[in-house]
Amino acid sequence: MEIKAPRGTRDILGEEVVLWQHLEEVVRRNAHLFGYEEIRTPVFEHTELFTRGVGEETDIVQKEMYTFTDKGGRSITLRPEGTAPVVRAYLEHGFFVRDPRVRWYYLGPMFRYERPQAGRMRQFHQFGFEALGFQDPACDAEIILLAWTIYRELGLSDLSLELNSIGCSLCKPHYVQRLREYLESRKDVLCENCKRRLVENPLRVLDCKNETCQMVFREASFPNIQDFLCAECRRHEERLFSLLKRLGIPFVVNPRLVRGLDYYTRTVFEVKVRALGAQDAIGGGGRYDGLARVLGGPEVPGVGFAAGMERIVLLLERSGFPRKDTFRVYLAPQDEEGEKDLLALSQVLHEAGIPFCLDFASKSLRYHLKRAQKMGVRFVVIAGEEERKNEGFSLKDLVSGEQMLLSREELLGRLRKERKAC
Ligand code: HAM
Repeated sequence: MEIKAPRGTRDILGEEVVLWQHLEEVVRRNAHLFGYEEIRTPVFEHTELFTRGVGEETDIVQKEMYTFTDKGGRSITLRPEGTAPVVRAYLEHGFFVRDPRVRWYYLGPMFRYERPQAGRMRQFHQFGFEALGFQDPACDAEIILLAWTIYRELGLSDLSLELNSIGCSLCKPHYVQRLREYLESRKDVLCENCKRRLVENPLRVLDCKNETCQMVFREASFPNIQDFLCAECRRHEERLFSLLKRLGIPFVVNPRLVRGLDYYTRTVFEVKVRALGAQDAIGGGGRYDGLARVLGGPEVPGVGFAAGMERIVLLLERSGFPRKDTFRVYLAPQDEEGEKDLLALSQVLHEAGIPFCLDFASKSLRYHLKRAQKMGVRFVVIAGEEERKNEGFSLKDLVSGEQMLLSREELLGRLRKERKAC
């Protein structure tokens, strides 16, 4: 039987690769401009990093992790997200002692055992930013600005930014208590999963997609987390709002936004695009001031963001991107001597920065021309006996059908000109 890629994974090839490269380039350039350095953490980690960091009661830990025991008997998990690994690396390398304020970014595959559909994969890719050691709400604004800048530069439109604060270790417990009481009073209509979570971790109830549970969350008397914020959390939130207004970034406050990971404190946010349908979140993040502590380190404030690259690529595809740089010259030798001449010419083209594709002498000119056409290449350089006699090359333009004999210098000049005009 033919072996296929596992469900929820896919190959990225052909023209789509150009989109990915463009996206990666925009991310890297903006990260550099904002002073973020790249960090590359392992694709797998000790399972405990995620059970502790992301939270035992989250969907990610309960249902979605690729976990296995390795040959040494260790429990290993393919990373479902990048924040816990980044904080683990920060602590492991002692940054809190020698250089406590860092700005890092990453790009790479993440793994979640979810039901695959358009924009939801089991191996998917994220780019993300994490700023550690910064308490100031201006850093939350910086992260949001960075995300916003990247989305805008990619030409994405119809973005909506939802914001909330889920409080800190002082005020959050009051809200959680009130939420538990409220949900207790509505227990009869909640699903079995929510009934269990209501005891263990009531905030996680809000991740439930069940229609009846959702109706409970929409009730007018449902406790609003904004009413429970302490003075410090309120100040943090108000400052962030005023900074975003100053930056001209539109947002709406969604008091039901809690995000599906346990490590958040204060700011949480999500960026959505309506056109994507059910999988409309193209990125999300927030502040996680307690995460370093949970992972066994000191108190280190942190704020970050991650975006799903598959979803962004889907949007780029729909927008008709890319305007590809398709200029390439096809080198078609007629015999072995011509092959030598074109191989030598390829060095000159390389130096001049002109992309080329060299074919070999074993094929006929008819074959070469057909192949060049199939590849979407406009110019074919031919080298055979005739060209040798004239100490030059033939250049055939497949669009006009015109063919001319040129010296090497004339050929280079013409190709340079055509490349510029392209
Ligand atoms: P997250 O919301 O779980 O946050 O994931 C961020 C983004 O990854 C989502 O908004 C979505 O675009 C994309 N994504 C998630 N799951 C899938 C999937 N199965 N297939 C395709 N795309 C997916 C985090 O991961 C946090 N670490 C974000 C963060 C960084 N918070 C602070 N710093």
